[in-house]
Amino acid sequence: MPQVKKIYKMIFLIVIMVILYGVDSCVAQSEAPEPNPPRWAKQTNVITVTERPQGWRIETAASVYQIAVARDGIVIPVYYGPRGQPLQVRKANVNVSSKVGSHIREVPFRGGFIAQTPAIEVIFPDGTRECDLVYSSSEIFETDGFPCLRIDLRDPAYGLVVSSYIRVIPELDILEKWIVLKNMEKEPILIENSQSGSIWLPVEEYDLFHLAGLWGREFMLHRTLLTPGVTTIQTRDFVAHENPPWFAVTPSRQSSETQGPVWFGSLHYSGNWRLDFEKSPSGNVQIIGGINFWDTTWELKPQEEFATPKMVCGFSPEGMSGASTRMHNYIGQHVLRKKFRDALRPVLYNSWYATKFNVNEQQQLELARIAKEIGVELFVIDDGWFKGRNDAHAGLGDWTVDKKKFPNGLQPMIKKINDLGLDFGIWVEPEMVNPDSDLYRAHPDWVLHYPKRTRHERRNQLVLNLARKDVCNYLLESLSKLLRENNISFIKWDRNRPLSDVGWPDAPRPMQYEVRIRFINNLYNLIDELQSRFPEVLFESCSGGGGRTDLGILSRMDQVWTSDNTDPADRVMIQYGYSHTFPAKLMVSWVTNADWHKVSPSLKLRFHVCMSGVLGVGTDLTKWSQEERKLATEMIALYKKIRPLVQEGILHRLHSPFESNRAAVEYVSQDGSEAVIFLYNLWETLPGSTPTARASGAVRLRGLDPDANYFLSNDRSGRASGETLMNMGLPWFVQGNFNSAIVMLKKQTQ
Ligand code: GLA
Repeated sequence: MPQVKKIYKMIFLIVIMVILYGVDSCVAQSEAPEPNPPRWAKQTNVITVTERPQGWRIETAASVYQIAVARDGIVIPVYYGPRGQPLQVRKANVNVSSKVGSHIREVPFRGGFIAQTPAIEVIFPDGTRECDLVYSSSEIFETDGFPCLRIDLRDPAYGLVVSSYIRVIPELDILEKWIVLKNMEKEPILIENSQSGSIWLPVEEYDLFHLAGLWGREFMLHRTLLTPGVTTIQTRDFVAHENPPWFAVTPSRQSSETQGPVWFGSLHYSGNWRLDFEKSPSGNVQIIGGINFWDTTWELKPQEEFATPKMVCGFSPEGMSGASTRMHNYIGQHVLRKKFRDALRPVLYNSWYATKFNVNEQQQLELARIAKEIGVELFVIDDGWFKGRNDAHAGLGDWTVDKKKFPNGLQPMIKKINDLGLDFGIWVEPEMVNPDSDLYRAHPDWVLHYPKRTRHERRNQLVLNLARKDVCNYLLESLSKLLRENNISFIKWDRNRPLSDVGWPDAPRPMQYEVRIRFINNLYNLIDELQSRFPEVLFESCSGGGGRTDLGILSRMDQVWTSDNTDPADRVMIQYGYSHTFPAKLMVSWVTNADWHKVSPSLKLRFHVCMSGVLGVGTDLTKWSQEERKLATEMIALYKKIRPLVQEGILHRLHSPFESNRAAVEYVSQDGSEAVIFLYNLWETLPGSTPTARASGAVRLRGLDPDANYFLSNDRSGRASGETLMNMGLPWFVQGNFNSAIVMLKKQTQ
């Protein structure tokens, strides 16, 4: 009899197994967890609950992201890639018993067998350093108009709930991932690591593209083969010039600028971050990113939550170009502040290179008068206007006007600048202090420091400890006073050094390890509060150039000072790299007289380079001849015509300056009816250069209507069909080293 019972039981289990996982499944379902049925806040066809395997399927315009709950309750990644591929769910991956444990995980944690870079590493009050995160419940809901999936995981033995979020922007093929940890224990849990999200790519040979650089040479494009093991890009102590948080991973032999699959992404974070690319022995690649917990932990108190910043992941089936367009649209439509999202950025003049620290009213007004004459819309006074700031040795921290330079304050000068018809902007560097300042003399304990260690200076400055509330309150009030008392419509917010000596001796010990995370949280709160008090003010992010350009700061700052290097030849390369992820609408570029390579670039080339972003002028205008002012006036007028295309069009990179001595970029209106093309000739002496003495070759345009005719104007006139321009190309008619051209296209209407 017991034999018969056993047989019945087996038949029953096989039937259940077949229902759940198909015929080739070999492990009984009776051990499977019973997930709470997902609640639907709103039926969407973007996120669906699947039955075989149990899990979720997220469909965007071009991608599928699928995850499942394995038999041991672990949520596992199943597939992330192009749509339309037959989905082969390996039963062996789903049918893992808890004795073995699934080790490829959607939210990888330290515990059991480790086969991936972990997202969650915690220590429980009793000293246990591993966790076990199994499925507990889920919800599909809508946030800010887009579907979002929340999967709650719980530790069966401890009071830890980990919620993994995926918000989907289907038309851009973008997923936003973040994680929230909640402590349900009676004592604190120590978080040693909590990443924002992980993705798992199919087996393939991949190349990683990322941007890296240094001061004056930001955003250089790098490409490297991912080999078995971990490749990491990261920032420690906010040394941000080295790397903006962005990646693109492409199958090595399949993808190009315009073709093939690309997985790309970024982080909403301005503090220490990291992105790891772990290629497994089987050939899959895991990409995981978030806060860099180097020299950092977080004490999660009972009932408290810790939320990671968002990681953005996207998929493009149209090569790197498709990846860039998606990121540009994402930043333009979902990251930038709503108030300024659709506004064109003004043509600005910044007086830094003209006057340095030696500013006064008369000289600034003279510059403003000429700036207005040539067509500038916003006048910005840079460093040097505040108390005691005669050079880089003193003054940072004291955000009051220098009465020696401006005896009547700034407002009378601002009024005159406004009367000329210009808006007025100002430079600040709030996170820093010079030891030679009233602020530091009054509060030497307000900087990051260790009592027995040197307070290391860079550019004669120390870093204020923004983890402290009193420091933030001081900054909020002094900046509010500045904005209240003066008609300021633009702030250039600079940060000229990384952190060092990251101590906070007055804080309770656990908080001392949290200082970098608290710094960034408070910085964000400070900017947010200031912006809610002064909603009309436009903000520019600067960090010794483009040293702080990430999605976290871009959701607060409306544009970016791209680099202190304004040499046009270098700038073409910097801007080309930058364009891989950041849109031209944020890319501020000033015309100056910089000539780092002693090649005497023409004023026309200087303008042409800056006109492919947010045009600014940053030279001593009083030194320009009448002819130069005339050319500048014409160029600014031309820029105002093409500005909607440059700032709001679709970018196509046509020719890379990293490959030869030429570069070309094209911006096409959303409807394809207009375009502007920038052509640049650079060094003829570089290996692989095309001789520039005669015009030669052609550049194929993109994004046009093949059936339409286009009129060409500006540096080239004539008429050509979209098909000709895209297939045969526009002749490369620019001759000579360091020469350039702008061609405008307009569709012929019947
Ligand atoms: C940094 C910025 C410059 C300028 C100076 C002023 O270097 O990148 O544009 O504002 O500071 O000190």
